[in-house]
Amino acid sequence: MWFQVSRSDKKTLTLQVYEQLRDYILNGTVKVNDKMPSTRELSNSLGVSRNIIIEVYDQLVAEGYLIVRPRSGTYVAPGSTFNKSQHQQSYNSEEKHHENTNKELIDFKAATPAMDHFPRKIWGRLAKEVYYDAPNSIFGYHSSEGIIELKEELSRYLLRNRGVVSHPDQIMITSGATQALSLITNLLIKNNEYVAVEDPVSDEMRTIFSYGGAAISPIPVDDKGIKPEELSQVNPPGFVFILPSHQFPLGGTLTIQRRIQLIEYARKFNCYIVEDDYDSEFTYEGTPIPSVQGLKPDRVIYVGTFSKILSPSLRIGYVVLPTKLIDRFKKIKWFTDRHNSSLEQMILARFIKEGYIERHVRKMKRIYKQRREALVKSLNQHFSDCSILGHAAGMHLVVEFPSIKFSKRLIHWIQEHSVKIYSVEQYSILKGKHSNKIVMGYGSLPTEKIEEGVRRLKKAIETY
Ligand SMILES: Cc1ncc(COP(=O)(O)O)c(C=O)c1O
Repeated sequence: MWFQVSRSDKKTLTLQVYEQLRDYILNGTVKVNDKMPSTRELSNSLGVSRNIIIEVYDQLVAEGYLIVRPRSGTYVAPGSTFNKSQHQQSYNSEEKHHENTNKELIDFKAATPAMDHFPRKIWGRLAKEVYYDAPNSIFGYHSSEGIIELKEELSRYLLRNRGVVSHPDQIMITSGATQALSLITNLLIKNNEYVAVEDPVSDEMRTIFSYGGAAISPIPVDDKGIKPEELSQVNPPGFVFILPSHQFPLGGTLTIQRRIQLIEYARKFNCYIVEDDYDSEFTYEGTPIPSVQGLKPDRVIYVGTFSKILSPSLRIGYVVLPTKLIDRFKKIKWFTDRHNSSLEQMILARFIKEGYIERHVRKMKRIYKQRREALVKSLNQHFSDCSILGHAAGMHLVVEFPSIKFSKRLIHWIQEHSVKIYSVEQYSILKGKHSNKIVMGYGSLPTEKIEEGVRRLKKAIETY
């Protein structure tokens, strides 16, 4: 027949033959009602034993790809082939797209960490140790809040690094900040209640609240973070969502006066502050400001994640809860997905305990700082009148251009030049205030790509 098998391949001969035949059927290389070669013919032409071919045919018959017609032979079954013209059409349009964009896209997406610097070796070694040595109980079910080894490490780590005051019982391990915020919405938002959010704000986080059934009320932000005096004095929200260390996207740090104002508001109206501290480990100027949670732990729900420090693929985040919310939170986490992977939690616990986390953060800070400096330098070189906004922290910055309006059309035109940037307007709820600003993430881009990306941006804007 029309393909070859390899004896040096890791896959068995049976699997190789099976996969080839199944693909030929699915993509229409052999058509419905085509007669298949006899098992003897096919075994001769491929040079494999006839038993292999019999086994493969039996499997394909069992799955419905082939049918056997008694005293006639084996045929491709009706309904087992994708419509060729549709397949061809989508293939052709993909090809056309690639023709237009022959350069690799440089994507300045914010909040994307450096995937080329994951501590693979250490993580791999710790994973091996956990899989070999951990007690058998690790392979069973666990309680929903997460394993105690990780919660204890995390409680100490958060106090050391973020001034978060917690007992390990207050810590709930979640599948990233995303799940943490979704469960908090579920817990705190009842009928007709709303969430007060900074405006502009991460559109993903905002969507989590509205999917959770909450209405959204935008509260303006300036270079000092959210403006607490804009919160309603008549109808308080279920909670106020803030990014005090490094506002997303504008990059402000919430002043102590505003922190105190917010806490007093939450006390007065008996509501909560939800503090998302997603990238606060990475501060490049001054000293990092401790969490709001440390000021008033019974009014603040603190949310953190390992997606930026390590990798979003781990899906490990956490919440530090005021004591009275613990039991209800555990229940909703339990019926959502029981608990996070205990093996992955144990690896992380050892990673923190053995001091690798602080070492890794120090290293990543150096790398992100270099990337940020390269971006600022390139922007200043190519756009003499642009200004960089926000605190030098995290993995993104905001650039303001006095005389450019970043319309959807311009953003699209820029992407035609194989570079992707994001307008602040996209994150704004009340439109029209930030149309001359863009967000540029640098976390996942090596410096050469950053420089090339800014060159492309310049060219796109010049030719618009
Ligand atoms: C504001 C903000 N918080 C938190 C996160 C992290 O989400 P997760 O921990 O679910 O990966 C992100 C991700 O982009 C984010 O933009």
